[in-house]
Amino acid sequence: MNVLGIETSCDECSAAIVRDGREILSNVIATQIELHKPYEGVVPELASRLHTEWIAQVVQSAIEKSGLSISDIDAVAVTSRPGLLGSLLVGLNFAKGFAATLDVPFVTIDHIRAHLYASQVEKPLAYPYLGILVSGGHTVICRVNGYDAIEVLGTTIDDAIGEAFDKVAKHYDLGYPGGVAIDRLAKSGNPLAFRFPGSALSKGDHPYDISYSGLKSAVINQRDQFWDGESEKSPQNIAASFQRVAVGMLMRRVRLALEDTGLKRISAGGGVAANSLLRSELTAMEKGGYEVAFPSLKLCTDNGAMIAALAYNYIQDGVRSDYSESASARVSAFKKTYP
Ligand code: KG4
Ligand code: ZN
Repeated sequence: MNVLGIETSCDECSAAIVRDGREILSNVIATQIELHKPYEGVVPELASRLHTEWIAQVVQSAIEKSGLSISDIDAVAVTSRPGLLGSLLVGLNFAKGFAATLDVPFVTIDHIRAHLYASQVEKPLAYPYLGILVSGGHTVICRVNGYDAIEVLGTTIDDAIGEAFDKVAKHYDLGYPGGVAIDRLAKSGNPLAFRFPGSALSKGDHPYDISYSGLKSAVINQRDQFWDGESEKSPQNIAASFQRVAVGMLMRRVRLALEDTGLKRISAGGGVAANSLLRSELTAMEKGGYEVAFPSLKLCTDNGAMIAALAYNYIQDGVRSDYSESASARVSAFKKTYP
């Protein structure tokens, strides 16, 4: 079964064709990064306008690169939630028209579930596993019992981890997008030049919840308070010191959740799963007997392949979406549906 997956929830205009949920025949990602760069952040109106201009060409290119013809497409899947409303609507309506014309199954996909599923395409893990979703909009630690069965254990109570990377980078003019710039600079920095405070594990009912706003403020507003008194106050040292704490805070919760749940498998997804420190810390867990999976870099950030791959499971299980379904910017459905 060849599924066309479309993703336009933020600043990547992407379409992919995936065969039987595993074989990526094409995965075209047209990024808008350069066009949002002058504003140092994603401008929603610009994003939706660019998706409108690009979507037909991106889908056409995904079909051409797959070596298939339009009539070989057996189903159409599209991200409908959460994300930027205008951007989501472009992909959603295009997908509806495409599926209706071909008269093939049509399925809408939750972006968060797709990120949590992405590693399954390249390195399938048996369920259940500990899922870690780290992106520009979300930080979620969860127990993944099946492709559609997710129990949230902890989330950010304020900023998402990727947002913290992006805001720190913006403040110090380190580059855009911020996560990539910090990751690169940190490689030649001293991670102990500044001893920024990470949020302590919270006691009580929500031990896996996490806060990034305190760390972000400390790095931006109180930098010198945490300086070691000797090291250069260079972009490299700021980046490395921030990244050490940002990743360390997450890993503490991950280790605690693994101990408490007894889970032996871990999967990370989302843009920040591309971070080299996080990837090396997770890989190091293999020595402790854990099975670890994270997507290749192209499948960490937003892409159509993860949408098509996840959709294959729904389609196999007989799930179809209605053409009356609309897009939703919010994660409220996520909170309600995920126990
Ligand atoms: O998953 P994604 O493409 O979009 C959302 O669904 O949010 O994630 C984008 C986020 C941005 O905050 C970006 O700075 C961050 O992922 N990111 C990184 C790295 N690459 C992308 N953060 C840290 N290190 C990286 N190498
Ligand atoms: Zn995303």
